[in-house]
Amino acid sequence: MKLNIAVLPGDGIGPEISRQGVAALRAVAHKFGHALTFREALCGAAAIDATGDPFPEETFRTCREADAVFFSAVGDPKYDHNPAARVRPEQGLLAMRKKLGLYANIRPVRTFECLVHRSPLKDELVRGADFVCIRELTGGMYFGEKKEGEDEAYDTNRYTRHEVERILRVAYDYARRRRRHLTVVDKANVLASSRLWRRVAQQLAPEYADVETDFMYVDNAAMRMIQDPRFFDVIVTENTFGDILTDEGSCISGSMGLLPSASTGSGTPLFEPIHGSWPEAAGKNIANPLAQILSAAMLLEHFGLTAEGDLIRRAVDASLASGVRTPDIQTPGGQAYGTEEVGQWIADWIAAND
Ligand code: IPM
Ligand code: MN
Repeated sequence: MKLNIAVLPGDGIGPEISRQGVAALRAVAHKFGHALTFREALCGAAAIDATGDPFPEETFRTCREADAVFFSAVGDPKYDHNPAARVRPEQGLLAMRKKLGLYANIRPVRTFECLVHRSPLKDELVRGADFVCIRELTGGMYFGEKKEGEDEAYDTNRYTRHEVERILRVAYDYARRRRRHLTVVDKANVLASSRLWRRVAQQLAPEYADVETDFMYVDNAAMRMIQDPRFFDVIVTENTFGDILTDEGSCISGSMGLLPSASTGSGTPLFEPIHGSWPEAAGKNIANPLAQILSAAMLLEHFGLTAEGDLIRRAVDASLASGVRTPDIQTPGGQAYGTEEVGQWIADWIAAND
């Protein structure tokens, strides 16, 4: 298969983990005889510094012309501590999602047996947890009408039936490929937008009678997720709730550095770790590349390359089992490996195994 991949390393630890993700993709391509081409483009703070725009037109063109976007992270503290900054790196990410029409963000949450002890939650509680959070990505408060005045500010949590229905359908399709259990998370006891979500879901449910649909308020879901994570199979929720719940979900895996994600919709699909740019760690060769490498597996699987994705997943499992781990997931007393060493080990393992 021929795939053109737009590589957007972004800021902070982005470039370091991006290199390791690309190395895994190259190793797999070599093994299976696929022709992958990579084109790098600027985004985030790096793009603001170079062009004044966090998602420049040229980057948009590179993404639009590609078959997939392989994204890392954006964000820089020099903008975080400056509420007056006119442009922020995060706007680049939001513009990219919107312009590429990426309305469905797929965030799998699972445990790795050998890392169960890393979770702040009790082993017996998280062991075997395995669910997918489908987060709506181009609507809600992130994109609704805003006002930012001196003494008054607001964000509007607007959703249309069309937006709700299409994301619910994505979630139902996922549920059908999994354990056929969908939990719709909302705040329908308070929010009008949530009541629209619930109404649309109730209308769609009979079409998916083979899937068990239940409804949960977001406050309750936040509690349930750490009390009984195995309850969930597929969660679907709006943009803001999904943002918050998936950070919480990373506690189940034990490290933010382990969770990949895919964003799909009408334009070029995008694959990225769920974590941010961790500026304090930039250039130190300590960031965990696994979320990025697992995002490479999701990319391949998106194009039906399941054996290829599986090889990456097995390489990741092998690295964990061999103790080749970055400091965030190393066992006490174990030697910690660098970003580069873990990435290289995984690429070598891919080259040496079928
Ligand atoms: C995420 C991030 C982004 C979001 C930020 C960086 C804009 O937290 O992808 O979850 O809020 O969507
Ligand atoms: Mn987030």
